[in-house]
Amino acid sequence: MKINKVGVVGCGFMGSGITQVCAQAGYQVVVREVSGDALNKGLAMVNQYLARGVEKGRMVQSEKEKIMARIKGTTELKDLSECDLVIEVVPEDLGLKKKLFAELDTICARRTILTSNTSCLSIENIAKATKRPDKVIGTHFLSPVPPSKLLEIVTSPVVSNDTVETVKEFCASLGKEIIVAKDTPGFVFNYLLITLSNAAFELIEKGIATKEDVDKSMTLGLGHPIGPIALADFNGVDVCYLVTKAMYERTGEARFKPSPVLKKLVDAGMLGRKTGQGFYKYK
Ligand SMILES: NC(=O)c1ccc[n+]([C@@H]2O[C@H](COP(=O)([O-])OP(=O)(O)OC[C@H]3O[C@@H](n4cnc5c(N)ncnc54)[C@H](O)[C@@H]3O)[C@@H](O)[C@H]2O)c1
Repeated sequence: MKINKVGVVGCGFMGSGITQVCAQAGYQVVVREVSGDALNKGLAMVNQYLARGVEKGRMVQSEKEKIMARIKGTTELKDLSECDLVIEVVPEDLGLKKKLFAELDTICARRTILTSNTSCLSIENIAKATKRPDKVIGTHFLSPVPPSKLLEIVTSPVVSNDTVETVKEFCASLGKEIIVAKDTPGFVFNYLLITLSNAAFELIEKGIATKEDVDKSMTLGLGHPIGPIALADFNGVDVCYLVTKAMYERTGEARFKPSPVLKKLVDAGMLGRKTGQGFYKYK
């Protein structure tokens, strides 16, 4: 199936990046947020990212304008009815995602493929909230979305081969390298990342090393572009908490139990870069 028009539900940290890369690849994009304010904030993030690209000479102004013109913002889910593929990018909450997929199922054309950007929840479980489980799949984009090379496709026992092949082609058209994972908790990327992050939080909680030194051990020791503590701040301490909690609920494995330090920061509203303070302080 040829994808022309893409829907994005949620224009937060990840949804704004996904909206941008789809529009940049030439797709018409309809992006839905819950309120005009949230939508404007999300679209401003896209605009700002592209403006930086113009400033740095990565694209010309007219190109930026063409990309922005391909994006239509809305607060109405029904405006996504004619999309060929819809990407869900709302917070990591199974109930919220299932409710949304059930709604999308009644609104969207029968041909529409529905994908979730979930970090670790069961795609099969989400798919079963619809009457088209064969057309539901995971597209796990990584942050920051525009420069990130990797995209993890998550299959499920109920997805069709046609859907897998169409989505592989679509993701490749966004300029991403694809890995394919089965529908297991955290798939490949977060299974590894959450294991590492939780061990890093444990080291600072037990006072074994400072957060700076824990981060250095991975950046200098293994050449990671960012340490696990700084990465939690970058991705959002709240997102990290929700994903870890969901991994723990899905597996029951102690190594995925959310660290008390994460919960403390979330309760204090210290969510990382987006609030100016998380594990570290930001200007
Ligand atoms: N932050 C990361 O680094 C990262 C990386 C990969 C995957 N993810 C996953 O992506 C998803 C979104 O994460 P995020 O970091 O962008 O969160 P976020 O909180 O920045 O954005 C979520 C957005 O969804 C909106 N929203 C909520 N309900 C909605 C609805 N019914 N319709 C439309 N919009 C709605 C919210 O207003 C918010 O703007 C989660 O499933 C998360 O696990 C996050």
